[in-house]
Amino acid sequence: MPLTIIHTVQEMQALSDSLRMKGKTIACVPTMGYLHDGHASLIKEAVKNHDEVITTIFVNPMQFGPNEDFERYPRDSERDMAIIEASGGSILYYPSVDEMYPPDYQTTISVSNISKRFEGAFRPGHFEGVATVVAKLFGATKPHTAFFGQKDYQQTLIIKQMVKDLNMGINIAIVPTLRESSGLAMSSRNVYLSDEEKKQALVLHSALMAGHSKIQTGTRVRAEIEQVMIDILATCPDFTIQYASVAEAETLETPDIFNKNKDLVLLMAGFLGKTRLIDNILCLSKS
Ligand code: PAF
Repeated sequence: MPLTIIHTVQEMQALSDSLRMKGKTIACVPTMGYLHDGHASLIKEAVKNHDEVITTIFVNPMQFGPNEDFERYPRDSERDMAIIEASGGSILYYPSVDEMYPPDYQTTISVSNISKRFEGAFRPGHFEGVATVVAKLFGATKPHTAFFGQKDYQQTLIIKQMVKDLNMGINIAIVPTLRESSGLAMSSRNVYLSDEEKKQALVLHSALMAGHSKIQTGTRVRAEIEQVMIDILATCPDFTIQYASVAEAETLETPDIFNKNKDLVLLMAGFLGKTRLIDNILCLSKS
């Protein structure tokens, strides 16, 4: 079946309504395009349990700060469509900026506490932009389930909280981060990295693994876990750390000493040259 491409909210809602009337299950995979194998893995996962998978492509201006990369964010719709089809996706929702934010647009969604730290502290307004656009994409596509990558860990918690708080009745599925064989987390922004920077970027994964090992040895002191990660990141002088932290996986709380029964998440972000990179891994108490 060729990919059905939809550009307007009205047509998207009408299609989703008719699919639901026929008893079809709908999955939504929200993206900003320039798809890679990580996105493909989300679509493939969605296809397993849903009749129709709607991939959305929208580079959302509301989630970019004034000095961020909105203008130069990579775009290639032809290639994206081929990836969606090859992954088994049936529908592409591809609205314009005017369709999403007409001139009289006024509403913003803010998920307060969990948005404040980590990414929220370094990218003011970012999560308001994410929550708002995801709510709008849900309103247009009316999915039963939506799929997100673990790579944007804090984003997944914010979306889960929003869905719960606003009684949206959508199941949120999180798919593990896909990595290059070198360990580098797949990201559309990796295209900004030179070959040399791609090699240097591996320091993030090494630092996460070191933090993970420290926890596995029984340490629950936050400063000790963070220090091993900072020491590894410091071996790459071209990497400027924004944060290298450990937090409770469910709440992102950061007590000085963690309860040994809590699942933890190691999170980091910083700049390699002009490119901002983020990564994380989970450290489950039962593993
Ligand atoms: O993770 C992303 O690509 C974006 O933040 C999302 C969820 C598509 C919203 O624009």
